[in-house]
Amino acid sequence: MSLKKIAVLTTGGDAPGMNAAIRSVVRCALYHKLEVVGVFRGWAGLINEELKLLDHHSVSGIINQGGTILKTARCPEFQTREAKQRAYNTIEKNSIDALVVIGGNGSFQALSDFYKEYKVASIGIAASIDNDINGIDVTIGSDTAINTALSAIDNIRDTATSMERIFVVEVMGRESGYIALSVALAGGCEDVIIPEREYNLEWICHDIVEGNLRGKISWIIVVAEGAARAEDIAKQITDMTSLETRAVTLGHIQRGGRPTAFSRQLALNFGSFAVDCLLAGEKNKVVGYREGKMVTVDLEVAIQKKKLEADKLYNLIKILT
Ligand code: F6P
Repeated sequence: MSLKKIAVLTTGGDAPGMNAAIRSVVRCALYHKLEVVGVFRGWAGLINEELKLLDHHSVSGIINQGGTILKTARCPEFQTREAKQRAYNTIEKNSIDALVVIGGNGSFQALSDFYKEYKVASIGIAASIDNDINGIDVTIGSDTAINTALSAIDNIRDTATSMERIFVVEVMGRESGYIALSVALAGGCEDVIIPEREYNLEWICHDIVEGNLRGKISWIIVVAEGAARAEDIAKQITDMTSLETRAVTLGHIQRGGRPTAFSRQLALNFGSFAVDCLLAGEKNKVVGYREGKMVTVDLEVAIQKKKLEADKLYNLIKILT
């Protein structure tokens, strides 16, 4: 099959840098004389035929913007046979030869199911604040989210120290403790609770009380949303130690904002490499860096649970407090 027309879409939770990835896919594809169609609202746009031909100017002025100009959505409907067939009909009707799917773990699970049935040539670009794609080092957006959360934690540190209080700060990550571990380390936080490790609140409280006796009064404990709720942990610490606590949930502020230079660089390189891969006849792969080199990873490998060096990082965080 000779490649003439590709479609690009963003799906699942948005991540800062998705726009830079779209820009790169569009302009690299045009450079190679391919036509590019933008699909709106992820899989939903493919099902409902929400398409627009993109040109050089369609992606002007977006390199520094968070979110995605193509919009994105979670689309449980795409799990049904009927929705997949409608998406395929859109691809056939519009003579689309290949898909570039920009998203995270859930997006690639859906892509893998779709590919198994319809064999549409597809390349995934890993974009997720959770850094949850197996086989590659880092996803578009995770660096930005970590820096956003870190900046909030630095602010909280000021008031925690001044008022000698214990703060429990909840960060995003339903199934991944990546953001929590990263900000706990970089923010000099005293403890961290993540889905990948069991935690023992009695030990945490023991550390707090011991610290108090030594004159260490202020604490920041980071909690990944998938492990526990900040409000609950803060209340339990107060119940167990009689010390005052405050809970802060950072929430979706971590998903927005200007992408950092690193997130943009990943996006621009991944976008260009995705187009090169399609031109070389590759399909059913995810592009990314591994150990500093640009690689492709089989979609089936990319959707496996990514292993986090949780114990090692946790130990370092505890040694450094
Ligand atoms: O995109 C990943 C993520 O931000 C997770 O960290 C979080 O648990 C989830 O999305 C929240 O999803 P939603 O915005 O659909 O509530």
